[in-house]
Amino acid sequence: MLEVRRINVGYKDVQVLWDISLEVKEGEIVTVIGPNGAGKSTLLKGIVGLLPLMNRDKESGIFFKGKDISDFSPERLIRIGITIVPEGSRVFPEMTVLDNLRMGAYIHKSKEEKKRKLEEILELFPKLAERRNQKARTMSGGERQMLAIGRALMSNPEFLLMDEPSLGLHPIMVSHIFKTIEAISKRGVTVLLVEQNVHFSLEISNRGYVLENGHIVMEGEGKKLLESEHVKKAYLAL
Ligand SMILES: Nc1ncnc2c1ncn2[C@@H]1O[C@H](COP(=O)(O)OP(=O)(O)OP(=O)(O)O)[C@@H](O)[C@H]1O
Ligand SMILES: [Mg+2]
Repeated sequence: MLEVRRINVGYKDVQVLWDISLEVKEGEIVTVIGPNGAGKSTLLKGIVGLLPLMNRDKESGIFFKGKDISDFSPERLIRIGITIVPEGSRVFPEMTVLDNLRMGAYIHKSKEEKKRKLEEILELFPKLAERRNQKARTMSGGERQMLAIGRALMSNPEFLLMDEPSLGLHPIMVSHIFKTIEAISKRGVTVLLVEQNVHFSLEISNRGYVLENGHIVMEGEGKKLLESEHVKKAYLAL
């Protein structure tokens, strides 16, 4: 469904990612793991059009269902079904839960469509339904992350990218977040995650990639990666 082919990404003249290739098939959950500063967020920003590709050649590009999307803007990507939940559960703090969710639905044309989507999301996140009129800034970190995910789902994505959804959350909330990601996947959304919570993320992933210093150094099935010596040593301190 998504194919990233030999891309280079960075900031102005500083290159961060080198010759990155990866693939996410329809229905999969795929995780990219890597330490702080490895380039995980840079990778997602490159995919969703927030950063331009560098040093391009004929072989490099980003393809969605076979179509070259390398130069699509973030808005255009949302329209074709690709949405990101950015790092740090960013929501509009002074807006209520409902208004935050409605902001995510701007691409739907009809009022009925928006309403239906909102009901579906509130069903998926009972906590958000309970707190629908509360201002986002007064929600807990975990609730805000749910809200950020819910808002992304309001655009009805086929493909969801998530930047460290478990960051800074209590272990119980972390396990809840990963269950939610599995539930989203079961509803037919294909997922590309970047995470430092190696255990939980690889456990629910079909496949994974290890990103270190801007290079992909390993790839494989989620559970196989978890059992690999390198991942055990470098990420699980086993
Ligand atoms: N706006 C920017 N301008 C210049 N360099 C940047 C910018 N944002 C990030 N970088 C650099 O790019 C590299 C990769 O950063 P990135 O945020 O992608 O890492 P990450 O893997 O997401 O890390 P973390 O797990 O801490 O979120 C780092 O060396 C960082 O300093
Ligand atoms: Mg990051």
